[in-house]
Amino acid sequence: MKSPSPTSGDRKAHTFVVVIVGASSGIGRATAVAFARKGACVVVAARRASALEDVARECASEGGQAMAVPTDITEPEQVDELVRAALARFGHIDVWIHCAAVLAMGRFDDVPADAFRRVVETNFFGRVQCTRAVLKHFRTRGEGLIIDVNSVLGRVAQPYASAYVASKFAGRGWVESLREELLDTPKIRICSIYPAPVDTPIYSSAANFTGREIRPIRPLLDPAAVARQIVELAFGSKREAYAGRIGPTINLAHALAPGLTERLARLTVDVMQLSRSEETVSWGNLVEPSWRRAEVNGGWRSTRNKPPRWFVLGALVAFTAGLALAARSQRVRPYALSAARPLTSSRPAAPR
Ligand SMILES: NC(=O)c1ccc[n+]([C@@H]2O[C@H](COP(=O)([O-])OP(=O)(O)OC[C@H]3O[C@@H](n4cnc5c(N)ncnc54)[C@H](OP(=O)(O)O)[C@@H]3O)[C@@H](O)[C@H]2O)c1
Repeated sequence: MKSPSPTSGDRKAHTFVVVIVGASSGIGRATAVAFARKGACVVVAARRASALEDVARECASEGGQAMAVPTDITEPEQVDELVRAALARFGHIDVWIHCAAVLAMGRFDDVPADAFRRVVETNFFGRVQCTRAVLKHFRTRGEGLIIDVNSVLGRVAQPYASAYVASKFAGRGWVESLREELLDTPKIRICSIYPAPVDTPIYSSAANFTGREIRPIRPLLDPAAVARQIVELAFGSKREAYAGRIGPTINLAHALAPGLTERLARLTVDVMQLSRSEETVSWGNLVEPSWRRAEVNGGWRSTRNKPPRWFVLGALVAFTAGLALAARSQRVRPYALSAARPLTSSRPAAPR
């Protein structure tokens, strides 16, 4: 039976073959189950073999066929082996989903160079390597879809996560460049999703060089809701999607008032992400996978750690007031307004 095309409208989910990299926990794990519910054949990959076996069993119990392939995406041979194993079992790949990522928190100068490099190696070069491997198959087959799970931090930065932010900005640029190259093969596509903060284990397994306990910034999305959006992307024709409303809002705020948005990002992280409790330095799951139980949810939504109301209100008032001031000021003009004026018009003549 001819397999359905991920770029055409006549798809039947039950013949779909989906490879999900980073499927042992969080969004990737939820996505594997979501595809299995649609009857897809699912190949799940990450470093934790026993967690992957659990996911594969859960997918099978949902009606899909599933295979676990333990893979460290920083090892190119293991990535090639993942593609080989998927093709040997199912004959083809329709959709490849990049979910794997690690996070290191800390001031740039406190994060060891090797830790910084490891984040970029996993989040950026890992994806590049996976794409190199699966694209060969897509080119031979003439079709295929890659879904890159990026982040709102691939669009607007935050402090104390510079390696993660760098990897996500790099990922976005690389995906956009590749998408332009793929314009002459319309049946081979790459698309991205930019989630706002999601309630997953990434925060508890992160490397921590801050000396303080790390918590996610609220509000938090349900990983199952993000997984549903990823499934929709696989069956639609969108090139990009946001998960959650925060992403487009911050993006707009940054375009209008970049300086102010950066100050607010700093304040938000100081108040909401770094707790007052002390924490010892840890490399988290950067090199070795986490010892914690691999779960879909991080369990943060059930805690009482909500942002103080004064902070949310204060931030809104400060942003609105700052935007109004910036718009009136000659010194701090929002990009959107200053771009409309000739660069020389507001500059004083050079002294003779
Ligand atoms: N949670 C959020 O707030 C949020 C927000 C926006 C975007 N995202 C993005 O969503 C994606 C999924 O993250 P998540 O929140 O679901 O985090 P997560 O639960 O920690 O999942 C990360 C996955 O990556 C895997 N992984 C890490 N290093 C790997 C390596 N070297 N080789 C293979 N797999 C590796 C982990 O499994 P092993 O440890 O078993 O290898 C795990 O399955 C990431 O791209 C993240 O940047 C998350």
